[in-house]
Amino acid sequence: MTLSLSGLTKEYDGKRALNSVTLDIPRGGFTGIIGRSGAGKSTLLRLINRLIEPTTGEINHDGIDVRALRGKALRAWRADAAMVFQQFNLVPRLDVLTNVLTGTLGRRPAFSSFLKWFSDEERRRAVALLERFDLGDTWAQAAGTLSGGQQQRVAIARAMMQSPRLILADEPIASLDVHNGKVVMDMLARICREDGMTIICNLHDLDAAMSYCDRLIGLAAGSVVFDGPPAAFDAAARRAVYGDET
Ligand SMILES: Nc1ncnc2c1ncn2[C@@H]1O[C@H](COP(=O)(O)OP(=O)(O)OP(=O)(O)O)[C@@H](O)[C@H]1O
Ligand SMILES: [Mg+2]
Repeated sequence: MTLSLSGLTKEYDGKRALNSVTLDIPRGGFTGIIGRSGAGKSTLLRLINRLIEPTTGEINHDGIDVRALRGKALRAWRADAAMVFQQFNLVPRLDVLTNVLTGTLGRRPAFSSFLKWFSDEERRRAVALLERFDLGDTWAQAAGTLSGGQQQRVAIARAMMQSPRLILADEPIASLDVHNGKVVMDMLARICREDGMTIICNLHDLDAAMSYCDRLIGLAAGSVVFDGPPAAFDAAARRAVYGDET
């Protein structure tokens, strides 16, 4: 067991964005969160990472009460649960290698983070990650000059540089064309398979969710309305998740 959510609810001004979500997410799985716009997918990932606080409910990771973490332990948790965003969030004018190296900063005391000083060991790890994911040639290039697909792969390499326990990807392919979307999903699948990484991925693209995820969680208006393998995602499940949209 790795991540356990219990009765997780988030309200904004009395309106429920997430409604009593209870889920166990075991280590090493590739879980896709699907649902219409506004269903609560981003809210769920942000709650797990503690970018936002739940109104009620529990978050447990390997027996640790995530909601109780403060200060240094909270910083460590945010590095443990690495986020990947639709818009990549790289620093465009900085070179690729430095962007990847910034993945180490969340593990450091706040003071030394300002120094932006990286050890030889960290540099070696960053270069190895870039080479592993076919980005070795790009290390000196300004991140903003890469293609969207390459930028997202650099962002995932930066997430890996954090030595995370899980990767939370919020629509990682929504800004990419079909080919680059596939390359990025292949990279996530490879990290899941080769590193045993737990991946939770919000996806608009149902086809991508069906082909890459081993489990789909369907949200509608903040509630879980489907939870099962892609093979079980039938017409009734599709209606429950998307209504008449499809
Ligand atoms: N900071 C906020 N203040 C008020 N309401 C919010 C806030 N953030 C999210 N919401 C609301 O919570 C609900 C869920 O939003 P969320 O962003 O989680 O949806 P989503 O499934 O990620 O949608 P999308 O597919 O468009 O990204 C929506 O009704 C949204 O308007
Ligand atoms: Mg969203």
